[in-house]
Amino acid sequence: MSIPVGQWLQMLKTDGADSTGESPISQYFQNGYDLPADRTRVFERYQKLTETHVARFNSAEVNIARAPGRVNLIGEHTDYNGLPVFPMAVDRDIAAVFSPRKDRKVVIANTDPGFTERSFEIHESIPPYSTGDWGNYCKAAVQGLLDFYRRKHRDADRFHGFESTFNGDIPSAAGLSSSSALVVLSALIFLASNGLDMHTTPSGRLELADLLARAEHYVGTQGGGMDQAISLMGRSGHAVKIDFFPLRTRSAPLPKEYSVVVANSMVKAAKTAEALDKYNRRPIECRLAAAVLKKTFSDTYRREVPIFLLGDLKEEKLAVPDSEIWKIAGTTFHEDPYTLGEIATILGQTAEKTAQLYCKRRDGSIFPEPEDGFKLQQRYRHVIEEGRRVEQAVQALESGDILHFGELMNQSHSSCRDLYEISCLELDRLVEISREAGAVGARLTGAGFGGCAVSLVEDKRVETFIHQVINTYYRDYLKRKDREYGSMIFPCRAADRAAVLGEIKLRRDRI
Ligand code: GLA
Repeated sequence: MSIPVGQWLQMLKTDGADSTGESPISQYFQNGYDLPADRTRVFERYQKLTETHVARFNSAEVNIARAPGRVNLIGEHTDYNGLPVFPMAVDRDIAAVFSPRKDRKVVIANTDPGFTERSFEIHESIPPYSTGDWGNYCKAAVQGLLDFYRRKHRDADRFHGFESTFNGDIPSAAGLSSSSALVVLSALIFLASNGLDMHTTPSGRLELADLLARAEHYVGTQGGGMDQAISLMGRSGHAVKIDFFPLRTRSAPLPKEYSVVVANSMVKAAKTAEALDKYNRRPIECRLAAAVLKKTFSDTYRREVPIFLLGDLKEEKLAVPDSEIWKIAGTTFHEDPYTLGEIATILGQTAEKTAQLYCKRRDGSIFPEPEDGFKLQQRYRHVIEEGRRVEQAVQALESGDILHFGELMNQSHSSCRDLYEISCLELDRLVEISREAGAVGARLTGAGFGGCAVSLVEDKRVETFIHQVINTYYRDYLKRKDREYGSMIFPCRAADRAAVLGEIKLRRDRI
């Protein structure tokens, strides 16, 4: 499975060509990349990465794997509520050169000096580094897979470790899912290093995405499954509608004459404990809202109505007619924020019990009651309406109604700003400027609290669009004086899913 270093370097220097014409690199990158224009961005990067890895680890044979980031077109904070999302995998990735080790040690290095080398032993319970440490994303994947295989009676001491060097070109803390790409990539490296093949079939990849979504909670976020699923299921030229519980995907071709342009607000969506709390407050509010709905429905129908997530509000799940569902749910919440005490009274339990059941962080501590209260009505409305917008957006795209798609993106941004409160002044301004510059739709993308805006722009207007956003947002509004803005605003292509490149040739898979 590993390939001699010289052979990789040869393929990378010649745009992926090798003497057999079956180079894994040319096979993989023929879709979704503008070659040879992307040569520097992809092949030179991988070449340098290989050289750095060999200089550090002195390996003769290595493998290369990569996992793409993503941009979410619509469907924000719906995934952990069991409602769909509509992202695409992008032509930016985290790549790794790696080799298996004979012992149980994992050693990870990074070409970015900001991420210092980490190493740990594979055993049943791997303690995390401090919050925000990059090594936790690798540990999360390894721990998740160990737990999975333990359930299949395979003990931790039967696994090998690996040594790996990483390099990414997904802007970090920007809402483009560089963290989940790192989790997915670490999982692929672990599987490939141990001769496991879960990731080589579509059903195996779905299972892997599902377990990695839960595994990523190791780092302290209570996210859903969008990011891992799109990195493992992305398809070049397509956006992918993802449904949850059970996880399933359906790809839809992107319109040929439009581009997806990503612009970084330059407000960092950080990974500090405080930032995790800001994110986690939303899943907690949604769980509380679902609990209140369950109580209301159960009282109304005098039976236990199975509502655990906001996405459970469906006729077929509740055995309640749709019209009734929306009549009851629509009048359940008042507009004013709730105190924990009020929610506990509704649920007929103590405030302590309510906090224990719904407001826990991963480390077992209790999430403090927000000063401005739990905004159940606003969060409920965003999630339900956003879920509907995703369904409509997929239909609009499939029927070629791009203007309607753009309108839904705009509505999604307003809801993220006003009801879910995950935007910020800079993102609002960037979205506004993007629309003025000609986007048919623009919105924040990803978790929010900073990060990027995504715009849908007609191909023929892309150049003037980018020019105008640079002038109005980066120069006038942020007062930046950079010479180069290519890393802040760029069109994205929908790219293929994560892969271990050295395995493509062996199995002659498409990927
Ligand atoms: C983060 C999470 C995802 C999703 C988005 C918001 O990226 O990892 O699961 O909740 O935020 O849509």
